[in-house]
Amino acid sequence: MLYQLPKPAIIAHRGASLYAPENTLPAFQLAILQGADAIELDVKLSADGQVVVIHDQTIDRTTGEHGRVGELSLEVLKSLDAGSHFDIAFQGSQIPTLAEVLDNIGQRSFLNIELTNYDKITDNLPEKVADLINNYNLRHRILLSSFNPIALIRIYRLLPEVPIGLLSLPGKGGAWARSFIGKLIPYSSLHSKQIDVTTELVRRTQAKGKKLFVYTVNREEDIYRMFTMGVDGIFTDDPILAKQIFGVRNY
Ligand code: G3P
Repeated sequence: MLYQLPKPAIIAHRGASLYAPENTLPAFQLAILQGADAIELDVKLSADGQVVVIHDQTIDRTTGEHGRVGELSLEVLKSLDAGSHFDIAFQGSQIPTLAEVLDNIGQRSFLNIELTNYDKITDNLPEKVADLINNYNLRHRILLSSFNPIALIRIYRLLPEVPIGLLSLPGKGGAWARSFIGKLIPYSSLHSKQIDVTTELVRRTQAKGKKLFVYTVNREEDIYRMFTMGVDGIFTDDPILAKQIFGVRNY
């Protein structure tokens, strides 16, 4: 399915996160309603080994409480309000599990799952995510990505048919990571920060048969610029705006 995405693809960053609290079911459902081509979401492990969907390593910013996700049980995480920080209209929205997300929207959108075990880079997140993808039979509807090379190598070995997206840090560190990991994993897409994207990078990436996806592109002029540079897709908080600008794209 990665190769059937429209160009440029609109990937809702943490769901339609301009319109609903990031990484919640309302944000994912809204992204689908708004016509996003794919949805990006972030996963990590709770203290009791459940795969939960939240970007930060702590719960502070998105719940108003304090603590590290990896030190809290699923029961505690589920009791938190992950909606009010965004808007009181979303009060009571929960931190979803990956199982809930796959169950609710796995058949309705293409998903980019980012493995965010950056606190504990050798934990069992890759095995648990691979099991869930297998259980829901969604190998054809997933793109896996991470800044953590160990997680990428492990999940690639478990799910060799699922495409890998190489998340690239900006600047020279990112270039090193690309060449190092690129030798170990046949990744399908490079996920670059907007500031690093040049027409030369677009050309070189596509000449290798890989897609170039750019994060995180929200301003109208930047969305337009990425479109004219020929990137394969953007991560955006605002699928509605991207759809307006990408109205004439190829399918
Ligand atoms: O996956 C693309 C983009 O989401 C990476 O940045 O900080 O949102 O995980 P971040």
